[in-house]
Amino acid sequence: MPGTRLVAFQGAAPLGHGTVSATGEKQLCCSFQEGSNMRPVFKEGIKERLATLSFVRVELGCGPNREFEDSVTLDCVDLAGIDIVADLDDGIPLGDSSVDEVRSSHFLEHVADLATFMGETYRVLKSGGRAVHVVPHFGNPYFYSDYTHRAFFGLYTFHYFSQTSRPFKREVPSYYNELDFTIDSIRLVFKSPFPWRNKLRKYLEAVVNYRPWMQEFYEENLGYIIPPYEIRVELLKP
Ligand SMILES: C[S@@+](CC[C@H](N)C(=O)[O-])C[C@H]1O[C@@H](n2cnc3c(N)ncnc32)[C@H](O)[C@@H]1O
Repeated sequence: MPGTRLVAFQGAAPLGHGTVSATGEKQLCCSFQEGSNMRPVFKEGIKERLATLSFVRVELGCGPNREFEDSVTLDCVDLAGIDIVADLDDGIPLGDSSVDEVRSSHFLEHVADLATFMGETYRVLKSGGRAVHVVPHFGNPYFYSDYTHRAFFGLYTFHYFSQTSRPFKREVPSYYNELDFTIDSIRLVFKSPFPWRNKLRKYLEAVVNYRPWMQEFYEENLGYIIPPYEIRVELLKP
């Protein structure tokens, strides 16, 4: 169906596959549209704002759930509050070394090619810039259920995008990409929609994240009993 998109919101937003857009059109997820050839649309005044910001923070694939008032928001769906409407599978429509901080939450699992997209975040970040991503852990109950998910995440996923900074003992193979993020922190996040289970999981979270070896031990040996919900990673571009 040309010109239609499906939005898949998870997390803070209600699960709403097949949401109707601000313009009233039925929406299908951008990631279903191969080679969408969607031209990025910068909302009025956003280029001028970008030029004057002393600290450029971008929120990628934030949908209606932006975290920061002062950030520049990008999504393929033209919702209220989105500053740049673009299919990010075609690249991030910003210049090299132009961004201080990249943020995403429950977005990276939707990109068509994770390695290419990580390269894009590396390209737009300034030296010393930070990328903060929240992604579903592979044990998350939605993880394999959500048919719009294309990339998969465990404790070691971000090691593949670093040559020199590897907090964990287990090695990962090199796939010859040249990205060299410094891994500043990785946290296994535990959550439950049920209040008591959520409380208990928060205690577990504090224990599991106490040391990198405990995170590794947990994921390997106990992660299938009480699985983590998300991974929160902070990466730095040297
Ligand atoms: C699961 S929702 C997450 C929304 C929000 N970050 C949150 O945590 O509630 C995924 C978001 O990514 C956007 N998205 C998916 N594929 C995209 C693409 N190729 N380019 C731009 N945005 C995309 C969707 O429109 C949607 O807003």
